[in-house]
Amino acid sequence: MTTEIIAHRGASKLAPENTMPAFELAYKQGADGIETDVQLTKDGIPVLIHDEQVKRTTNGKGYVKDLTLNQLKELDAGSWFSKKFIGTTIITLEEFLQWIKPKSLYLNIELKNTKIIYKNMETIVYDMLSHYDLLHRTTLSTFNPFSVRRISELCQDLDIALLTSRRNPNLVHDAKAMGANALHVKFRLLRLSLKKACQKENMTLRVYTVNRPMHMRQCFTQKIDGLITDVPNLALQQRSAYQLKHKD
Ligand code: G3P
Ligand code: MG
Repeated sequence: MTTEIIAHRGASKLAPENTMPAFELAYKQGADGIETDVQLTKDGIPVLIHDEQVKRTTNGKGYVKDLTLNQLKELDAGSWFSKKFIGTTIITLEEFLQWIKPKSLYLNIELKNTKIIYKNMETIVYDMLSHYDLLHRTTLSTFNPFSVRRISELCQDLDIALLTSRRNPNLVHDAKAMGANALHVKFRLLRLSLKKACQKENMTLRVYTVNRPMHMRQCFTQKIDGLITDVPNLALQQRSAYQLKHKD
């Protein structure tokens, strides 16, 4: 059993998060998958950006929900990170799916729908994944339990993860009851007991955001299904070293 290495917002330590350079780099480094965040534009188009507002990661201001795709495309999403990335733009989910389609990468699409409840977000994203025939290698995740429920009603055999950073002794039971078959938990919630409870209930367990070698090793030892990291290159090195040491 191998712990999958999933690049958090792409290789976001070395390139601007949720942009093509970060995704390209994660792919080149050999990550198993890519995690990215989705918000909806004013014209209802899914775009890849973590925050509800554009201020932190572009040269613009305002809410994604109040800007059209054309307005968002005019923004620079690279220069905040480094001059090297001037000219990088926000991309749509569709552009991302077209890029990833011919590659053997796993996708983790996180719906950003806790602060803003975007109308029909689940259906819009689901239909697009279905159109590109990518549902079988995608996990849809969200912190919003109601959204987990809505996704689970769209499709029976989809990989649906409840994201959480909160301690809850009934986590596995609660997640299952809302229709999730995977849990994406903050690293500090990781316990052997949680891993065992997931195993018992046939629930996939992935952990975010794992950037330290010591924490990565803990995931490998506990045979966690996946770790989500800003530094996929480091995680890949650590995994190879771990596997070499434990090959018998
Ligand atoms: O999906 C894991 C992680 O990305 C969740 O938190 O805030 O980094 O999107 P955040
Ligand atoms: Mg995320």
